[in-house]
Amino acid sequence: MFVVPVLFAFAIPFVAAQSNDTAVQIEAIEAHFTQADLVPELLATFNPSAALTINFDGVGDVSPGQALTQDQVAPTPTITIMPANSSVSLSGNFTIAMVDADIVGANESNITRHWLVNGVTVTNGQVSNSSATAITSYAGPAPASGSGPHRYVVILLQQPSSFSPPSDFSQPNIGVSQFDFNGYVKNSQLGPVVAANYFTVEVGTSTVSVSATSSVQSSTLASVSVTKTSSSVAATGTGKAGNAASQAAKSGLTSIILGVAAMAVVLM
Ligand SMILES: *[C@@H]1O[C@H](CO)[C@@H](O)[C@H](O)[C@H]1NC(C)=O
Ligand SMILES: *[C@@H]1O[C@H](CO)[C@@H](O)[C@H](O)[C@H]1NC(C)=O
Ligand SMILES: *[C@@H]1O[C@H](CO)[C@@H](O)[C@H](O)[C@H]1NC(C)=O
Ligand SMILES: *[C@@H]1O[C@H](CO)[C@@H](O)[C@H](O)[C@H]1NC(C)=O
Ligand SMILES: *[C@@H]1O[C@H](CO)[C@@H](O)[C@H](O)[C@H]1NC(C)=O
Ligand SMILES: *[C@@H]1O[C@H](CO)[C@@H](O)[C@H](O)[C@H]1NC(C)=O
Repeated sequence: MFVVPVLFAFAIPFVAAQSNDTAVQIEAIEAHFTQADLVPELLATFNPSAALTINFDGVGDVSPGQALTQDQVAPTPTITIMPANSSVSLSGNFTIAMVDADIVGANESNITRHWLVNGVTVTNGQVSNSSATAITSYAGPAPASGSGPHRYVVILLQQPSSFSPPSDFSQPNIGVSQFDFNGYVKNSQLGPVVAANYFTVEVGTSTVSVSATSSVQSSTLASVSVTKTSSSVAATGTGKAGNAASQAAKSGLTSIILGVAAMAVVLM
């Protein structure tokens, strides 16, 4: 019985030695995407090789799922990409997209395109659009009043030389509209998804019931499981209470991860 905790105590510095802040950040983003049902509702699978940071003027870096106001997300954000490790290459062309995946539990056939730029590059971690084509220029979120907290997902996809956009998305300056994101990705031969992140925007008081989100089992996170913490971050419930719980769970999750990272550093 007493052997197990001792083994895990030794395991902590070992794991810390091969992970770093970026790895922890990527793992947190993955957990948030699963918890917010973006995986598998929007993305069937999600194995990012880099961390994507969304930064709005006047807000700063956004944490995964952070609730922001319509005004805060009006300007075009700056996107930063940090590779998981030195063997991840960020050369070549990429496509950046932002879609409104509606509220948790929404019918995912109703995705709205807010941003779609082909041919962006990653230079010193910054997404640059200097030789890019803006099919849809960034259009700040404006969810209908009372329609609940919409999830806005920013996604960076590799754009291989075989990329071939469908004719209805091959010219710039197409406004915001409904979008079959997965159909577009498949038909244009984009991918894989390199990195993604999301935030939420809600306008007015919700008149819809937001589906319960699944709880985040912190024991399933590799950087957390080494501590054998038995706690799971509950994020169940419906409607506004469920959403508040989910927000709380999200900050709790981040604290747990950062807490473990900090502890591991001390032990080293
Ligand atoms: C680097 O990160 C990628 C993507 O997460 C992963 O597949 C690969 O195993 C990692 N390589 C090393 C040496 O850690
Ligand atoms: C930590 O992440 C950086 C990229 O942010 C990468 O260059 C470095 O190799 C990583 N270190 C380890 C030990 O994985
Ligand atoms: C990136 O896109 C540009 C055109 O925008 C093209 O000239 C170049 O060959 C592309 N690079 C790769 C690696 O696909
Ligand atoms: C989602 O909505 C579309 C039409 O908007 C409908 O055809 C489809 O059956 C709906 N799917 C579910 C699971 O409700
Ligand atoms: C689809 O989403 C848009 C934007 O959020 C919204 O205006 C529209 O009412 C939605 N349609 C359906 C059928 O849910
Ligand atoms: C590039 O980004 C700037 C600043 O966000 C924006 O004003 C410009 O329209 C963008 N150009 C393209 C091609 O996306």
